[in-house]
Amino acid sequence: MDEKPTWSEEASTTFIDYGRYFVPDRAQQMETICRLIPPPDGPFVVMELSHGEGLLAEAILARFDTAVVHGYDISPQMRQTAVTKLARFDGRFHSHYFDLREHAWRRPDFIPQAIVTSLTVHHLDGPEKQQLFRDMHAILAPGGAFIIADLIAPANSWANTLAADAWDEAVREQTQQLDGNTDRFAEFERLEWNLFRHSDPDFDKPSRLLDQLNWLEAAGFTAVDVYWLRAGHAIFGGYKTGD
Ligand SMILES: C[S@@+](CC[C@H](N)C(=O)[O-])C[C@H]1O[C@@H](n2cnc3c(N)ncnc32)[C@H](O)[C@@H]1O
Repeated sequence: MDEKPTWSEEASTTFIDYGRYFVPDRAQQMETICRLIPPPDGPFVVMELSHGEGLLAEAILARFDTAVVHGYDISPQMRQTAVTKLARFDGRFHSHYFDLREHAWRRPDFIPQAIVTSLTVHHLDGPEKQQLFRDMHAILAPGGAFIIADLIAPANSWANTLAADAWDEAVREQTQQLDGNTDRFAEFERLEWNLFRHSDPDFDKPSRLLDQLNWLEAAGFTAVDVYWLRAGHAIFGGYKTGD
């Protein structure tokens, strides 16, 4: 039996309902990730780890009309939502079941030209992240990109307080912009979603950004960089050297 704490269907429902309020600058994050994928000059395959309701896959498929996205997720509700949402892309989206922590899925029968993931790698601890980075480098096509959007661990208590406050501020701002009131911010607080204030270390295991950049380099990635950062959320990654 799996004793590890896992993502619940209740969390999927909450995230589908509130993601646009709770994730800072969601549209900008999606656009940033898309812009870091080397533009294809023919058919190409993108692998997405934990595709959720399919927002990032949707942005990639809309931007690159030769792309096929193989998305993976553990949640039946997320998978069903994404498949329904992306049906209009005529077979260019495939959803597979996986548990990020397991290893069999890391030997796909295709070669991805890009691997992307948003808000999920922080469920792995440090050694598991390092193994993931090595495994993704091994399967990525030469010249391909590995781009991670995720929560990161602030380096000290001052940075933690700053990240916590900045996340609250971002959510308050978004709820006001989207709804003209801050009711959804009250929901964010009630659900204790701000892990910089309400951490559950068995479930949320964000690592320091500097460590993750070093682990990416150690895994073989080049041009490792941070592309965007706000409120303890970062987009970072690297490229696999071409042939
Ligand atoms: C916060 S949501 C992010 C969804 C999507 N990537 C996005 O940015 O909209 C976290 C996602 O990770 C998935 N997830 C959580 N734990 C997982 C695990 N152990 N293995 C695979 N997927 C997992 C959830 O089902 C959910 O879709």
